[in-house]
Amino acid sequence: MRDLDEIVEEAEKLFNAIENADELEQAKARYLGKSGELTELLKGLGKLPAEKRPEAGSRINQTKNRLEVLLKDRRSSLQEKKLGEKLKEESLDVTLPGRGYGKGGLHPVTQTLIRIEALFRSIGYEVASGPEIENDFFNFTALNIPENHPARAMHDTFYVENGDLLRTHTSPVQIHFMLENKPPFKLIAPGRVYRCDSDVTHTPMFHQVEGLWIDEQANFAALKGILANFMENFFEREDLQVRFRPSFFPFTEPSAEMDISCVKCNGKGCRICGHTGWLEVLGCGMVHPNVLKHVNIDSEHYTGFAFGLGVERLAMLRYGVGDLRLFFENDLRFLRQFN
Ligand code: PHE
Repeated sequence: MRDLDEIVEEAEKLFNAIENADELEQAKARYLGKSGELTELLKGLGKLPAEKRPEAGSRINQTKNRLEVLLKDRRSSLQEKKLGEKLKEESLDVTLPGRGYGKGGLHPVTQTLIRIEALFRSIGYEVASGPEIENDFFNFTALNIPENHPARAMHDTFYVENGDLLRTHTSPVQIHFMLENKPPFKLIAPGRVYRCDSDVTHTPMFHQVEGLWIDEQANFAALKGILANFMENFFEREDLQVRFRPSFFPFTEPSAEMDISCVKCNGKGCRICGHTGWLEVLGCGMVHPNVLKHVNIDSEHYTGFAFGLGVERLAMLRYGVGDLRLFFENDLRFLRQFN
């Protein structure tokens, strides 16, 4: 009979070298299975002389028990190891930084509107608004654009039911404001306007900011100074040049268009300014006496100036955007650049 202690020693080495539960059960069979080494020894007891059988039997059983204990220990340590690995795999590192929020931002047109409003508020202008669906009187007639006037055709108007229309400019807000308030006043009126027009520099909806100052001493020199100053501040260019060209609007007399030196090439001439060195940025003029008459303001006592500028145009120039339509396509790759 092989030395039982030797069997235990060998089995212990074998069990401890095994890393997987199934293999451990197979190794167990080698000693304790149907034809395992210890089982065979027990079967062979009958061949021993009767007086030796009890002692040999009890020693074999003790050995069996020792092996069972070894197996149990190994099983539980394998199980523990497996659990440890699983926990490690599933572990959460609560100190890792979070995923973070997608941060929104204001639309570049909104940012531009806010900037324009802040600059005019800082010199005492209040902000007014009016409806986007207007009638003929406010959009045209009161602004000295009578029926059959060719300026009506120039406006590419969208008409809605019963002759109402989508305002083609913010100038009707002048009329609303003057009907509701007594002069003197200084105001700007930012808002959406609509024209049936669409290409690289025109969209059917865009934004304007109207300006109006009615006072006893509002004059063209003040208009020029305020607008030149505004443009310098808006573009953050102290060296910005401005010029006024005579123009025509039915609601102002005299009328002018204001140009600024090209913010791209500083007046040298480039593609943006059509190689003229100048950019047209707004229309303006002294409020026509016929307009004041429509709102019952005495044009002998009060004068006023008005201007209207395109917000997208200023935004394009400030941010160097080449296509107006980008502002309204809502492509996040474009919008994110203004966050
Ligand atoms: N309403 C004019 C336009 O839309 C702009 C303007 C406003 C011109 C006020 C003069 C005075 O083109």
